[in-house]
Parts: sequence; C-alpha cells; structure tokens
Amino acid sequence: MKRILTSGIMALLAIVLAAPAQAQQTSAAKKQFITQLMQRMTLDEKIGQLNLLTSDMDVTGPFVRPGYKKDIEAGLCGSIFNAYTPQYTRKLQEMAMGTRLKIPLLFGYDVIHGHKTIFPIPLGEACTWDLGLMEKSARIAAQEASADGLHWTFSPMVDIARDPRWGRVAEGVGEDTWYGVQVAKAKVKGYQGTDLAANNTILACVKHFALYGAVEAGRDYNVVDMSRRRMMQDYLPPYRSAVDAGVATVMTSFNEVDGIPATGNKWLMTELLRKQWGFKGFVVTDYTAINEMINHGVPKDEYEAAALALNAGVDMDMQGSVFATQLKKLLQDKKITLQLINDAVYRILAAKYDLGLFKDPFKYCDTVRAAKEIMSPENLQAAREIAQRSIVLLKNETQLLPLKKQGSIAVIGALANSQRDVIGNWSAAGDAGKAVSLLQGIQNKLGTAVKVNYAQGAHITSDTGLLKKAMQKQRLEAADTANSAQLLSEAVALAKQSDIVIMALGESQGMTGEAASRSNISIPESQQELLKAVYATGKPVVLVLMNGRPLTLEWEDAHIPSIVETWFLGTEAGNAIADVLFGDYNPAGKITMSFPRNVGQIPIYYNHRTTGRPIDPNNKYSSKYLDVANEPLYPFGYGLSYTKFTYGSLQLSKPQITAAAPLQVSVNVSNTGNYDGEEVVQLYIRDKVGSVTRPVKELKGFKKIFLKKGESQTVTFTISVEDLKFYDKDMRWNYEPGAFTVFVGTNSRDAQGVDFTLN
Ligand code: BGC
Repeated sequence: MKRILTSGIMALLAIVLAAPAQAQQTSAAKKQFITQLMQRMTLDEKIGQLNLLTSDMDVTGPFVRPGYKKDIEAGLCGSIFNAYTPQYTRKLQEMAMGTRLKIPLLFGYDVIHGHKTIFPIPLGEACTWDLGLMEKSARIAAQEASADGLHWTFSPMVDIARDPRWGRVAEGVGEDTWYGVQVAKAKVKGYQGTDLAANNTILACVKHFALYGAVEAGRDYNVVDMSRRRMMQDYLPPYRSAVDAGVATVMTSFNEVDGIPATGNKWLMTELLRKQWGFKGFVVTDYTAINEMINHGVPKDEYEAAALALNAGVDMDMQGSVFATQLKKLLQDKKITLQLINDAVYRILAAKYDLGLFKDPFKYCDTVRAAKEIMSPENLQAAREIAQRSIVLLKNETQLLPLKKQGSIAVIGALANSQRDVIGNWSAAGDAGKAVSLLQGIQNKLGTAVKVNYAQGAHITSDTGLLKKAMQKQRLEAADTANSAQLLSEAVALAKQSDIVIMALGESQGMTGEAASRSNISIPESQQELLKAVYATGKPVVLVLMNGRPLTLEWEDAHIPSIVETWFLGTEAGNAIADVLFGDYNPAGKITMSFPRNVGQIPIYYNHRTTGRPIDPNNKYSSKYLDVANEPLYPFGYGLSYTKFTYGSLQLSKPQITAAAPLQVSVNVSNTGNYDGEEVVQLYIRDKVGSVTRPVKELKGFKKIFLKKGESQTVTFTISVEDLKFYDKDMRWNYEPGAFTVFVGTNSRDAQGVDFTLN
C-alpha cells in the first residue's frame, strides 16, 4: 500500500515538475513556428493578417468590402466575422487553404448571451448573483459556437453602466465595479476553459476598451469624459480583471478616453493595457473604429488614422480596411515601423496557433458535432434554470403570487406571445422559432386544466417614428394595420371574463441594445394606456416586464400588486417565467442596476460619494430635488422572494482589523416565510474618512444561500485590508487607517451596519 502511494506521489511529482518544462517547450516550439512562418511572409501577407472583414450574414455598420472573398483568396484577409455554420466556415477556410502560405482564417462572432441556445441578456443574467452559472452559460455558448465553426467571441462586454438611457446596458452587468470584476473573470473562464487547443473552447474578447459605458447622456456612440481617478477606481477594473483571467483579445471602444479616441490612445493600449497590466494577446478595433476617429476630429484622414491606431497599440482592424490600404505607404514614409507590424502579426498568429488551427484548420467545422451539441436537451435545461434565476420579483404586496393552477387566466400584452422578443438583442445566431413565448410557457405548464386566453391589447408603441429608427419592420407593419382601439377593448373584455390577468409589457428587443438609446425609459404610452384600462376593471393584475434596461415604473409600483422583472430571458423564457408565476421556482434574482423614479435622476447608482450638504428635508439648501426623492425606486441589489428572510444582528469577530489579521462579520439569516427559497446576502463597506472622498458604501462580497422554510444559517464573511484598498490621493492602490462601517443585508439600501477600525 505504502509503495503504491509513494510511486503515485512520485509520478505526480514528475508531472508537476515536467509541466513548466513542457510549457516552455510548447512556447519555444510556437515561437519557432511563427517566426519561421513570418520569415516567409510578404509585407502584403503580413498586413492581410491585420485585416478583419465581415462576411454577409449580419452587420452593425457600413459594409465596406463586398469583395471580401477575393481578399481571402489573395491572402489579404486573416480573419472573418459574421460567418458561421461548419459548412460555411469550411468553404471560406478552404479559400484560405488555397493561398500561398495556407494561413488559416480566424472566425469571430458576437456570441453575447449564448450562440443557438440563448441565455438571458447579460443584465438579466447578472441578477442571478451566481458566478458558477454565469461561467456555465459562457461554457455552453463556447461549446455551441465552436461546434458551429467559430473560434472567437466578441464577449464579455464589461462596460460599467450607470445610465439606463443607454441601450447597451443590456449587454453588461450594470453599475457596480466589484461585481463587474467577478463576472468578467467567470465569463473569460467559461469561454476559454483551461485549454484553448481543445475543440470546444474559443477566444474571448473583453470590450469595449475603455469607458464606453459612460457615454454622455446615455446616447450611443457619444463622447465620454471623466477624471483619471474615476476611470481607475470605477470603470477600468473589470477590463483588468478579464486580462488577469487570461483573456485572449481586447476590443477598443468608439468613444474617446481623455480627449483621444480610444482606438488611437497609446496611453490606454500600450502604457496601461500592455505595460502595466501585462496583456499578451491582440487588440482588435470595434467596427470601423479607426475610420471613425476622423469624425472625432483627431486624425485628418485614413492615412493618419491608421498610423495613430497602429502606433497606439491596435493589432487588428475590424472592417475598416484602413490598415489594408494605408500601412504599406505609412511604412515607406517611416510613419510606422516594421517592428510594430511584426508584433501585431505575431500576436494574431499566436492566437491561431493556440487554437490549434495550424494543425487542423477545419477542426471547428464538424457537422456531426454541430448536430449533436447545439441546442441539446442539457443546454436547454441549463438555459431554463439560468432564466428562472435571473427573474426579479419587484413587488408582491398582496401575496398574489405564486398563482394557483386553477380558474381562468387572461394573458395580455404585445410581448405576451412573442418568440422574437424573449431572446433579446444580440441573440445573433439565435433561432426565435425555437424560443418559448410567455403564453406558450403558461400553456405548457397548465395544459388544459386551466382556461388560458390571450389578447394583444396594444401595439408595442404608437410611436412609429421610433419603430422606424429602431428598424422594427414587423412591429411597424403591425402598428400600421391593426386598430389600437379595438385591440384595447378586446383585452379589457377578456380581463373582465377572467379571474386573473397576466400582462407582459415593456420594450421590444429592438428598442434595447446597440444604437437603441431612449430618453424616456417608461413602458411605452400605448401599453401604459392598456395597463391602466385593465387595472380599472378591478381584476388582479400581475405585471410581467420584458425589457433590456431599468425602466421608470412609479405608476406601476404604486398601483399594480405584483411586478415581475424578466428582462429578455432567452430560448426558455416562457417556461422559466411560468415556473416562477406558478410557484415551481421561488424567485431570488436581485437587480444590479438601480431603477430610477424618473429620467431626471440619472445617472443614479448606489455607490455614490457624499456631498458637503447631504439631503435634509428641513433644509432647502441641501442636495436634493424639489420634485422627486434622491433614492431610486428599486435600489441596487434589490429583489423579493415568495418567502421571508429575517436577519439577526451583525456580529464582528473583533472591533479592529490589521494588515496581518482579517476580521469576520457574521449574521444569522432565517427563512421565516412559507416557502423554501434562496437569498443573496450582500456585504458592503464604507470607508468613513479618506485622503480622497469615498463612496457611501461599496459591495465587497455576497453569498447566495438556500434555506428551507423554517431553517436558519449563520453567514460569515471575512474582511481583509485588501477589501479596503482604493486609489489614494497620490493614485496609489492602498488602504488607509481609520474608521469603517460594514453593512450586511438583503440589498444595498436595507442593510445593517457596524463599525470597525484599522489602526
Ligand atoms: C459593436 C461591437 C460588436 C461589433 C461586431 C459593433 O458595432 O460595438 O460590440 O462586437 O459591432 O459586430
């Protein structure tokens, strides 16, 4: 026995000792391979590797190279996006294999919240507060994407977003930096796995570097301006976290950073990203972002723009063709160096090497795998579970929910029978035909035992100008044909005949996401009118929201007894919502972006700093609005359950923390309601006095626990000085002695605090 053990340990030791040596060998082999390949490449072929062109399947900007296939055949294009399926990518890859050096193409795509099995939009999924699940959805997305011919996803998007007018808040995880840091890591791990050479892992791309989430007035593609301190403290950490997790690629952003377009910003890409953070992968631009710098008014023309971008640290030009047309001349004119081109080529070839494409360029073009692995029953089951856990119960005053599986139910609303909307924006390869609408989900659950009737009730909006701008063709046609008054009276009549009304209202998917900013973020007026008319019947109403951003819901909150936030939940949406409405799953989601009371409160976020004149209702000259409260309608971290969680008082292990000795804070949480359920116990810290002003509180931890009805659990967090660090007055990442408060509670507003000190 002992001998077996010893020899086992010896073998293990041999593996452990061999691992770094092996890694060194691989990296030496890789270096040699790429260097030798590059020695054979012409300048045109090198520049071709820096050229990423779109195929014709999907586009989000100008389509500048209709002749992209000719470029592939000539070896002048190294990567393609918006092309997938094993058949199609094989066809394009064969073209690359017909070129002189047979350098394989890299296929990228926006696999944002699932590839074919669509998961909740990221802002919805963030409400799970379950990092394991967020990693899992990325893992499944990578498995499906790689089975469908893809090598590279343009995800995760980690832009901190505090302005819900911006349509792209849907793509990220909301307003909190610390939370964004955790999710960034989980996503990179999910996509890339532990071995990029496996055939079911893909390159991740953290975007949009940097600060895109802070576009002024929430208008997409707009300018950004912020202090270096705010950048470092609040906006940059999630990108950094992705880099630390080994993200293979970084995408630039459309905005400027400190007056210089991000895509031409050397401080950002070379000083910070490469030198300080040690990023080793390649940097790709956003869609035609090099060209667009000309509109920013920094470079004069494409010639200057290409030089600015390459010199700043860009490796790959997405769809702009500016590198393709300008680099040769720039090199002749000595505006750039060959070294810079070589470095960029090397990094891109290294990514292809890491994926194993030089060994087998067709390894992701496997039709058998595609048929077996895409939208498998296990993937759909995971989508359903993640969708359930993304749902947030915003209000349930009269305990109307969960509903009984009996009587007659009216399902009303322009979103109630929609398959397209529930998969949300950026569900690029998603198949709406396979998605479960709310109506279908309810019918699946109730079968014939309960009478379920449906009425559309209203158009998504009567603002046809908006629908035109949002390119919502079908919605526009529908708005032009059906008569609104008739839709409304049908719905009211149906409500009157029913015991209960479920209303699915909110935004269509096209009203959210990229290029979908709104200055008014309420439920559109046509649907509000419907809601008010149905409410006036006196029937109990459950409002099921579908939307890609926090909405303003003051009237709804004041009148409607039960409100359920469902975002756009993906392929299994209808089933997951029905699970929650009928009590087969007890909701536990918590929002990660504050819901403002009105647009005038924006930007609104929980971890703001204090003013010299904090709000005082009795003092006119204090920081407040005359017409609305300072607080949001629903704060960060908020979400209810069908059961009730009761928190005991906070216990500190000791009143002082030191660098060497962390402290513990504990609280007893009891499930004192009538259902089993999950609770996200949240930990926030306030640094009371600093060399710079500090936020009123900052999230520093959370634990998601499950408690059966009647059960209790003590939840303990460890706080170390690491949790107290910030950029001090000299911009050093440091902690300072003084007094702190730690808060633990059910959301950022409802949390008990207790003080401790650091000497
Ligand atoms: C978006 C990116 C996206 C790219 C490629 C751009 O318009 O800003 O997020 O990855 O298009 O589709």
